[in-house]
Amino acid sequence: MNPAPLPAFYDDLDASLFEVWRLLREGPVLRRNAFHMPALATVDADGSPQVRTVVLREADPAMGTLRFHCDRRSAKAADIAATGRAALHGYDTASKIQIRVSGTARLHTDDAVADAAWDGSRIMSRTCYGIAPAPGTALPAGDAYTQPADGADLDGGRPNFCAVVVTATRLDFLFLDRRGHRRAGWVRDGAGWAGRWLAP
Ligand SMILES: Cc1cc2nc3c(=O)[nH]c(=O)nc-3n(C[C@H](O)[C@H](O)[C@H](O)COP(=O)(O)O)c2cc1C
Repeated sequence: MNPAPLPAFYDDLDASLFEVWRLLREGPVLRRNAFHMPALATVDADGSPQVRTVVLREADPAMGTLRFHCDRRSAKAADIAATGRAALHGYDTASKIQIRVSGTARLHTDDAVADAAWDGSRIMSRTCYGIAPAPGTALPAGDAYTQPADGADLDGGRPNFCAVVVTATRLDFLFLDRRGHRRAGWVRDGAGWAGRWLAP
């Protein structure tokens, strides 16, 4: 049996960078794409790495930014407020591509970015932000918390909502293939990217 043809980006650094942003841009809309729900890494106040799943809401190749939403009372929001940094990771099984993004991160709580993100959120997503007590609080029992019911005043959660924008400063791409893996890395270079092949 003939092996599957190699993808067009194989051995083409610029096309690989395009593929990175194509997959990231499709993440928010394609549920089966691994970049729909990437892992978000931060460093906490003890210097320990922390990682968790988030839903990617938007990727903007022109700006080199990625956006997700979280509760501003959460540990991840505190980590980002303190360090101004974050990393995201996803592995897409179908395309055999791992993407790692690291960069600066900013919390948007009361500005136009946050307002637009809140306005664009579904009702189901908004209820999460009305949860009490705050995320991560120790509870006497598993159900000892409240969340707004359907049809309740969903804007009550707005003060707890924030949009986080990660501005990528480094990208790492790994494509797995038996005929030879390909790995490439890029660093931000002004408005563009400087890339090179890396040993996988
Ligand atoms: C499928 C899935 C999607 C999630 N999406 C988000 C999200 O978009 N934003 C968020 O803050 N937490 C999201 N979470 C919950 C986080 O992974 C995490 O458990 C929670 O936010 C607490 O993280 P923290 O204490 O590090 O802040 C998601 C969890 C899962 C399993």
